[in-house]
Amino acid sequence: MELFTTRPTGLLLTVLLVVFTASSDAHEHHMDKIEEGHAISDDPIDSILWVHILIQSLAWGILFPTGMVLGIIRSRWHVPVQTVGSVLAILGYFLGHKHKGRQFASNIHSKFVPSIMLMLISQVVMGIYLKLHLERGIHGKIRKVIVKAHGIVGKAMPIATWVQFVFGGLTMLGFCRGDHTGQCLAHFIMGSAFIAYGIILTILLLVGQYWLRRTGRSQEFFDSMVIAAWGCVNTFTEHRWGGPWVHNDLQHTTMGIIWWCAGLLGIWLSRKRDGQPKRNLIPAIVILLTGFGMSAHPQHLEISTKVHTIFGYTLMAAGVARIVEISFVLKDKNATSEDGSDPNSFQYLTPFLLCASGFLFMGATEEQMQLLSDAHVTHVSYVFILFSISFLLFLFVNMLLHLYAVHAWNSPAKSDPTLPARTAPPNGHPNGHARADRRIRDAEEFELEGLISEDDEDTKPEGKPRQPHAS
Ligand code: HEM
Ligand code: HEM
Repeated sequence: MELFTTRPTGLLLTVLLVVFTASSDAHEHHMDKIEEGHAISDDPIDSILWVHILIQSLAWGILFPTGMVLGIIRSRWHVPVQTVGSVLAILGYFLGHKHKGRQFASNIHSKFVPSIMLMLISQVVMGIYLKLHLERGIHGKIRKVIVKAHGIVGKAMPIATWVQFVFGGLTMLGFCRGDHTGQCLAHFIMGSAFIAYGIILTILLLVGQYWLRRTGRSQEFFDSMVIAAWGCVNTFTEHRWGGPWVHNDLQHTTMGIIWWCAGLLGIWLSRKRDGQPKRNLIPAIVILLTGFGMSAHPQHLEISTKVHTIFGYTLMAAGVARIVEISFVLKDKNATSEDGSDPNSFQYLTPFLLCASGFLFMGATEEQMQLLSDAHVTHVSYVFILFSISFLLFLFVNMLLHLYAVHAWNSPAKSDPTLPARTAPPNGHPNGHARADRRIRDAEEFELEGLISEDDEDTKPEGKPRQPHAS
């Protein structure tokens, strides 16, 4: 196994370095067919570029994130998956340079390439070092640092990938240049933020309950902090101060103001009188109000107004769902089960709707709307497509979290009535080993009983009998 995985990765590294240094100068960029004032030529995208897109989506969008989770749970599949991913990524890199067909002016997607490829190269280098298992003497110390760095860069890769994918799409269509840049930034940053919020809520819902408990704060404390900080920024950045109030400036700025005002209240309300964490409805109300603002946001094109309206309604629905969840489903509790293994189905609603709102917002820039309007695509079909993408992303996030929970915490993947319900992972941490050992697990549970009764007595549901796990 060792040899099998180390040799190909060494070879891989060499190829990567050679390819990278060679092709960054060798590549000549044709721009002769691009008309004056345009960002792209009229040619169609050729098959090489389509294959580039397909391969990079597979490697960076699916294999690397899956491999990342396999790394976190120390699965023996980590190295093979990341090796295959890296080989595909190099192939895709080549194809990106070799395309004909549509020509592109100097663009942000190609400018971001060195950064993201550097991340990949450093992952492979560090990965090979870790795989060599040098643990004696000074290596013991170095190894610790490398594991940390490899983990940090590894977890940053999906975020960098997201950015590079967005850049790729914009480059493909020649969008977001000149006057459009500011609007694009607003849509893509806010849209991505809604999606990120949805994903973070899903992570906390399914595997973050112990972490949340250890922080001694309620979910709404963190939500309100971010809302308040973001509101401060938007209060000052949405209008060119000193100039006239144009277009939707006033709406954007007042939305910033309401965010920090509400955020402050949300922070205050996230504690009980005795300092214990407490849930509140402020972030949900902020989402609701933001949705209301967006649903009635005047636009130039009819389709744009319609897409914005649906975006607003989706966001309002997320806010309403959150209120119902906190007040009526959970009745102010943190979760339905201590480890988040069995959430109420209603609890998926808010994170999903946040993801969907994010995609709707990212898909509603002036240029995209113009493209749809010219192609006579109705807002209904477009909204369906964006919702489909949201379903797929939400599925992928849930699959990755399942993979993590099942292996890191030994949560049973199939229900096993002979197993006692697990009360907690060891010390609230994933134990980092995929191999399930019943005896170790039982011993850990035994130890944890003591920990829980000392620290968390008040948060433990009263007299909850240990029931067979049914997931
Ligand atoms: C193909 C080259 C790679 C090799 C040979 C490799 C090897 C390894 C090894 C041996 C470990 C276990 C470290 C330990 O002993 O605890 C590990 C962990 C990990 N790897 Fe990789 N890896 C590679 C690429 C990647 C890539 C591309 C990513 C990111 C997408 C990644 C993300 C991670 C993560 C997140 C961990 C867990 C670190 C932690 O728990 O903090 N690896 N890798
Ligand atoms: C993280 C994954 C990706 C990486 C590392 C990557 C890398 C590259 C590279 C190295 C080039 C050649 C740049 C140059 O000519 O200087 C390129 C070109 C291109 N890529 Fe990607 N790509 C990725 C994903 C995507 C995706 C998902 C799309 C589309 C949605 C896309 C669309 C394009 C386009 C349109 C070009 C042509 C740009 C030009 O010729 O200047 N790429 N990409």
